Amino acid sequence: MAFSIRTRLTFWYVTLLTVSLIGFGVAFSYSLFKIFMYRVDNQITSVANMMVHTVLKPTGQIFLPNDFDIILERFFGIRTSGNYIQVLDAHGTVLAKSSNLENTTLPISQDTYHAALKGLTSYEVVSIAGKYPMRVITLPVILNQKGMVAIIQVGDSLEGVQEVFQSLFSIYIPAIILAVITASAVGWFLARKALKPVAEITDMARRIGAENLNERLNIAVPLDEIGRLASTINEMIERLEKSFKQIKQFTADASHELKTPLTILKGEMEIALRGKGEPVHLKEALRSSLEEIDRMNYIVRNLLDLAKMDVEREALPREKVSLDRALTERFEHFRRLALDSGVHLAILRNRHLVVYGDQVRIGQLLFNLIDNAVKYTPNGGHVELSLDEEDGKAVVRVKDTGVGISAEDLPYIFDRFYRVDKARTRDVGGAGLGLSICKEIAESHGGTLEAASEAGKGSTFTVRLPLADAAGPA
Ligand SMILES: Nc1ncnc2c1ncn2[C@@H]1O[C@H](COP(=O)(O)OP(=O)(O)OP(=O)(O)O)[C@@H](O)[C@H]1O
Ligand SMILES: [Mg+2]
Repeated sequence: MAFSIRTRLTFWYVTLLTVSLIGFGVAFSYSLFKIFMYRVDNQITSVANMMVHTVLKPTGQIFLPNDFDIILERFFGIRTSGNYIQVLDAHGTVLAKSSNLENTTLPISQDTYHAALKGLTSYEVVSIAGKYPMRVITLPVILNQKGMVAIIQVGDSLEGVQEVFQSLFSIYIPAIILAVITASAVGWFLARKALKPVAEITDMARRIGAENLNERLNIAVPLDEIGRLASTINEMIERLEKSFKQIKQFTADASHELKTPLTILKGEMEIALRGKGEPVHLKEALRSSLEEIDRMNYIVRNLLDLAKMDVEREALPREKVSLDRALTERFEHFRRLALDSGVHLAILRNRHLVVYGDQVRIGQLLFNLIDNAVKYTPNGGHVELSLDEEDGKAVVRVKDTGVGISAEDLPYIFDRFYRVDKARTRDVGGAGLGLSICKEIAESHGGTLEAASEAGKGSTFTVRLPLADAAGPA
């Protein structure tokens, strides 16, 4: 059964309080009882010792006056009036006792008697019918020559002690009950007060859905645990809102990107249909249509790649990939293209470095970066590639002296469909997906991708990947 935090808090609080109060009561009563007993024992011991001197003659005989009480009174005065006194012979037979014992005697158990025979003094609490419980000392009278000649017993009623404890409990127990009831009520109330913001947060959080992600929890709580919970939830909603916006934006961009070639395609077809049907025109229309289909194909393929990577992140194939070989292959691929567009492409440094990952994806990462560098570098410019180890990571740099990227655009170039110059890049054929794919690949390999650029001067893209030895296969 699930109890609310409020119930549990109150329960634990009250249980703890009850246990502490009872524990305190027990410890206190026990100490008090010990103190009382100590005092009673002291008193009966001194009376018993005096009795020894009274009844034992120097000759070793036991002197017992006829009127035992008179002797008692003469020697001990009023003080003994409360004590019950009894003298027994060595066999345990009562020889004399104080009159307040009336027709009863102080009991002596076998154990106590045997202890006395051995010369040991005993203290015990005994009960006599019709009287209060009594504390009794049993003191053997020992003579060196004869051994034990008599036993003195002195008792004191525990009436006073019993009364003290009775009145103590009659106050303490109701006090505990009252304290526990009050504490439950106050605890219940305080728990409610403390947990009220949680209930508010729950209510508000329940109202926030996909449609109103712009809303935030606004409750006036200090920066305590609950305040931090609220602001954490707010941050989470903010991230959700951002992701939602990105998805919406992405869908809009993707549709838009695909719509343009489709519109062009449609236009071409209509013109071809309306035309005179001359083979030259038809061929031109078909060629142009094929271009648009290629473009659409390119976009769809890239979109598919991105979607696949989003899903596959965990399940990427992990094999040893030789980065230097991958770089050389890409270099060979672009050499011709670069030459044609008058760009000097070169590898400055290429070390043999191995990373764990997906051969195809890493090839794609290098392809996109070199493709951009060549694409955005005008005639006569340079593109330099390098691979080296830095701080235990493999570092690939693609550096160009091309058009560069302005500081305003730089933060967005990794966003999907982001292109700096929309009009110009359409000629070059880009869809604005290349760099977002690169970033995705670098990160899914446990690495990073950074861009540094200055408009008009050129750009440097840096990929850092963990080396195979350090990372190990997943
Ligand atoms: N080396 C570079 N020099 C200057 N600008 C660059 C460079 N690389 C990327 N950019 C800018 O960043 C934008 C985004 O690059 P990205 O590779 O994502 O898209 P794209 O090259 O336009 O298209 P795609 O790669 O999908 O064919 C580019 O449109 C371009 O404006
Ligand atoms: Mg690109």
